Amino acid sequence: MSKGIDLRKAAVIGCGFVGATCAFTLMQHGLFSEMVLVDVDRARAEGEAMDIAHGLPFAAPMKIYAGGYDDLADADLVVLAAGANQKPGETRLDLLKKNAAIFRSILPELKSRNYGGVLLVVANPVDILTRLAQEFSGLPEERVFGSGTVLDTARLKDLLGQHLSVDSRSVHAFIIGEHGDSEIPVWSSANVSGMSLHRICEMRGFHDHEKAMREIGESVKNSAYEIIQRKKATYYGIAMAVQRICEAVMRDEKSILPVSNALHGEFGISDVSLSVPAIVGAGGIERITPIGLDGDELSRLRASAEILKNTMAELR
Ligand SMILES: NC(=O)c1ccc[n+]([C@@H]2O[C@H](COP(=O)([O-])OP(=O)(O)OC[C@H]3O[C@@H](n4cnc5c(N)ncnc54)[C@H](O)[C@@H]3O)[C@@H](O)[C@H]2O)c1
Repeated sequence: MSKGIDLRKAAVIGCGFVGATCAFTLMQHGLFSEMVLVDVDRARAEGEAMDIAHGLPFAAPMKIYAGGYDDLADADLVVLAAGANQKPGETRLDLLKKNAAIFRSILPELKSRNYGGVLLVVANPVDILTRLAQEFSGLPEERVFGSGTVLDTARLKDLLGQHLSVDSRSVHAFIIGEHGDSEIPVWSSANVSGMSLHRICEMRGFHDHEKAMREIGESVKNSAYEIIQRKKATYYGIAMAVQRICEAVMRDEKSILPVSNALHGEFGISDVSLSVPAIVGAGGIERITPIGLDGDELSRLRASAEILKNTMAELR
């Protein structure tokens, strides 16, 4: 490496809708100088690498190619998007079994090559698969985490921004818990640039707060179902969420993001991976931030943890 030049390498495992869109988004943002695409369907990875590379003259130079596990051993960050989506008639447990088997085949490949970077799990169910990835990879927990509710939080900010007619980047709020049906919007601390949600709602002429919160919370929770019903898969929003997380890691930003990570007594929860805001930087998760929750939010977070633990027990 030339002196003063910081070369950074990413890998994407699983180049379907999600993995390929993540790779495309990462290419556009110029965070990495090299990216390897890995898929059990090698031709697919090759095709995606060629297609994405053709955008390089409009972005910044980097090396993009299809490869195998030897090629990703020295990556700084691996995005794990291999896994199927839920098919009609298939239960969540069926999907989990299928994707757990895929993880069981992939992670020993990283382990045997002493992979030394950060592993970002995106495949669903992301919380359980993050837990399994920690187990199967043998990597330190702080370096293995899931995209969790970073996407759900973006959906919440988008809907609140639309509702209040303000820039969604001025909305400060989190979705925590499972990336799925038991997720929780943290209304108690939600604000728009320091203004409480209720105050800004009143200012914008909305007075039925309970109804608006219920409807927006439900909309966020059902977003994926609504999109999948219309176009069979979701990939743009998650790709932007992945890009945001990669940026926090590669630039050592110490950003606070609701990623899925292992809890050890925080919020009275242990032995499960779920999303609570955490400081994310170069080494992965630096620490969980103990944000304030009201009584209802805390009991819903604990219930979400129980649901995930029960699913894990069913899998075992
Ligand atoms: N976390 C989130 O917020 C979020 C959002 C959207 C989708 N997802 C999840 O991402 C996953 C991928 O979704 P998709 O729409 O891209 O699915 P897809 O079916 O389009 O792609 C999956 C890819 O994984 C590959 N694959 C399967 N087994 C593999 C293995 N052993 N090694 C390497 N590659 C393998 C397949 O060949 C395929 O290219 C799903 O589990 C989906 O539910 C997560």
